[in-house]
Amino acid sequence: MNPIPLKPGIYWVGALDWALRSFHGYTTGRGATYNAYLIVDEKIALIDTVKAPFAGEMFSRIARVAPPESIDYLISNHVEMDHSGAIPLALERMPKARVITSVQGAKGLAAHYGDRGYHAVKAGDSLSLGGRTLRFVPTPMLHWPDNMLTYCPEERLLFSNDAFGQHIACGQRFDDEAPMDAVMQEAAKYYANIVMPFPAQTKAALRALEGLECDLIAPSHGVIWRAHIAQILQAYGRWSDNDPPKAAVVAFDSMWHSTERMAVEIADAFIARGVPAKLRDLKAYHMSDIATDLLEAKYLAVGSPTLNNNMLPTVAALLTYLRGLAPKGRKGFAFGSYGWGGQAAGQVQEMLAAAGIDILCEKIRHPYVPDAASLAGLRRQIDGLSL
Ligand code: FEO
Repeated sequence: MNPIPLKPGIYWVGALDWALRSFHGYTTGRGATYNAYLIVDEKIALIDTVKAPFAGEMFSRIARVAPPESIDYLISNHVEMDHSGAIPLALERMPKARVITSVQGAKGLAAHYGDRGYHAVKAGDSLSLGGRTLRFVPTPMLHWPDNMLTYCPEERLLFSNDAFGQHIACGQRFDDEAPMDAVMQEAAKYYANIVMPFPAQTKAALRALEGLECDLIAPSHGVIWRAHIAQILQAYGRWSDNDPPKAAVVAFDSMWHSTERMAVEIADAFIARGVPAKLRDLKAYHMSDIATDLLEAKYLAVGSPTLNNNMLPTVAALLTYLRGLAPKGRKGFAFGSYGWGGQAAGQVQEMLAAAGIDILCEKIRHPYVPDAASLAGLRRQIDGLSL
């Protein structure tokens, strides 16, 4: 397993997880990477580790640069186990390594792995490796309380951990070597599914980075940014503005195609008004992809028929997921067909509001099968919306 040089004396020593298809419920069709970095100076520092099953891969890369037992510091930018899982083994293989982490990181690591004498750093603290310095920038709730960035001013190199990451396994380590369409799609999906709940914290981190000159941004997932740094910073700025374009997502599930007919009509009505719309049948589209669609859409219509006095479980799962992501700056409404009872559309409307979606209009319901006249009425309702 080869280490990949970023700059003289600085190496990528992470691991590729080609087969990962779910990252706590978010689909990862292109797999994932767990990036760790080794800096060889008068002192040697390892920046983050990898998910526990990949510790062997990481150490095989490290061993080609330096004996693990010679490592002086382990910088833990984030407690989540995809980056800290190999720390227990690392501390066995790196007996003199001192673990440097944020104040919350020390608490989190102790909760996961026991108290191993973690050294907590605060904003502005730094560590000299000899010729290079590491400066620490806490970024709490981007996306856990413990997150921090590590910046090396002499190399103009930022180790950004989860920020600016992408779940993608590929043979290329740098943005200008990799297919940028795929990289940006995965960066957007990562933001939507991991970072979206924290726009204020994202803005704070972007402000903190304004004063830092960066030749490289090395995240803990995906490719390293060197040719498209401005593009990813601009994307994070735009996404965290929560002012998406006038586009619509129409997400639904259906039992006997009645709610589906309504969904098709709603999507078509949006398109006829000049609002691009995506039709997302929950039998075909995963909720993490719909969250990604919502990154670029101001409007969200969610439909469910009523089954045993409830919305369909697929719709409930989507709405529960969106409530956690708490998208801001979006407007939406509920719709659905029903035979009797007809509770689902009201439940969907309540869940949309609970997710922070501004309600555009009263829920739209149709009994049994919508005919041409009822679909025309539905279209008039969409035509009457203030978009
Ligand atoms: Fe990549 Fe929050 O862990």
